Amino acid sequence: MQLPDEAIAYNYQHLLTPMLEEWTPGAELRQQHFLAPAKLRDLTPRVLQVRSQVATERELKQVPQEMQPLDAGFIDLPQKLLDQHKKQGDASTLGRVLKLAERMRERVDRLVVLGIGGSYMGARALFESLKSSYHNDLPAKDRSGTPCIYFEGNNVDNDALHELFEMLSITCVEPDRREECWGVTVISKSGGTLETAAAFRAIRREMAEYYGLHAPQLKDLVVPITGDAGSLRSLCKAEGIADENMLPIPDDVGGRYSVFTPVGLFPAAAMGLDVRALLLGAAAMTRRFLEERFENNPVLQYAAVNYLMNTQCQKPIRVMSIWSRKLEALGLWYDQLLAESLGKQGHGPTPMTTVQTRDLHSRGQQHQEGMRDKVINNLVVKACVNPPIMVGMADRNEDELNQYNRKGLPDIMDAALAGTNRAYYDAARPTADILMPAVTEHTMGQLMQMLMLATVVEGRLMGINPYGQPGVEGYKRNMKEILKKAAQ
Ligand code: PA5
Repeated sequence: MQLPDEAIAYNYQHLLTPMLEEWTPGAELRQQHFLAPAKLRDLTPRVLQVRSQVATERELKQVPQEMQPLDAGFIDLPQKLLDQHKKQGDASTLGRVLKLAERMRERVDRLVVLGIGGSYMGARALFESLKSSYHNDLPAKDRSGTPCIYFEGNNVDNDALHELFEMLSITCVEPDRREECWGVTVISKSGGTLETAAAFRAIRREMAEYYGLHAPQLKDLVVPITGDAGSLRSLCKAEGIADENMLPIPDDVGGRYSVFTPVGLFPAAAMGLDVRALLLGAAAMTRRFLEERFENNPVLQYAAVNYLMNTQCQKPIRVMSIWSRKLEALGLWYDQLLAESLGKQGHGPTPMTTVQTRDLHSRGQQHQEGMRDKVINNLVVKACVNPPIMVGMADRNEDELNQYNRKGLPDIMDAALAGTNRAYYDAARPTADILMPAVTEHTMGQLMQMLMLATVVEGRLMGINPYGQPGVEGYKRNMKEILKKAAQ
């Protein structure tokens, strides 16, 4: 299979126990804490078997009781959406996403995205990684016709929501001007999530106050994204929002696997991202997963190595060490993916996102010398989008930086990564690198699909169903019960 230049790779060679290493205290520790190549070799047939199992599962028409829930629809969805769009154009799901997003962009300068968990973390990761960190601070004319984006409904923080309303009421006073219009997309697969529902109710009140009680904007500037049934769909229908203004979430795609459904695609398109490139990247990763041999298959490599680090090398803490500040929300998205998918039946690795070099000054000490319970996956972006900012020469050299005058920030970042990896290697702290050529829609599509597929493979290796989140129901039940009692 021909790989495009911008393909993501997983380099785990430096966490394998080195062969024939001369004895030193460090070498002895590496024998204890690194992964023996034989263990990985022994596991490979099982990993390939799991791949076949996952490939078969996604084609099941009837899901037997003991396999439920089985939300494997995300695996083929990117290619399906692209194919359907080619055949059906504007009538396809992707066509509808693009049209509604275009309409929203034309009509509003601020978009509030309501949703929690899988219904918002993917969109946030795309926003932070692919838009300017200062997107919302730029004047409208410098945002190429895309609205400011605000994420809400992912908490029940009174003051935070208040601040959003305050900001909207200060900046938007003339509802006839696009620059002072705002809209909302409300995202909930079940339609019954209290955090999102409460925020939606409050925001509808604000909209009615701003646009008028019966203003058309109350219907036109609201895009609900939800499952086939549920209270959000019923509510929106009752409010008179037309079916064509609502977007679907396929039944066979679970919340944290839904970034390539309208859940992530509509906000992404509204932000002005190239959603086709996202889907192409994701589809390419699915193909690699299904077709490539282990040696060239980052999904299988990542799943196998990390599974073994957890189960055979006593490394239950999985650190995603991110070497680009813009990917922090991607790390948090992965935290949720891993924690909710595999944290079951008393098992599952504990995810932790760190951002470098920032957290070398906070968590670095512990990762270098603390408990030996961690495997570190560096997420490394090989090329910056923008030209390097150089250190340069200065008349005052008290900071002693003139010696690096021909170096830029990317060189300092590279040195920090190499220096950290070397220090961790010497101290027998296992690290591997996910290598991302650059942060683009295509690579983000690849990366997110890779991590979702790897989570499913790892779940199957562990004998744990990676879909569903039965443990989350406990708090929801109690919260509702307590609220009901308090309301009596
Ligand atoms: O992964 C999941 O399924 C969850 O994190 C959900 O996305 C989250 O609980 C929100 O659910 P809903 O979209 O039904 O509001």
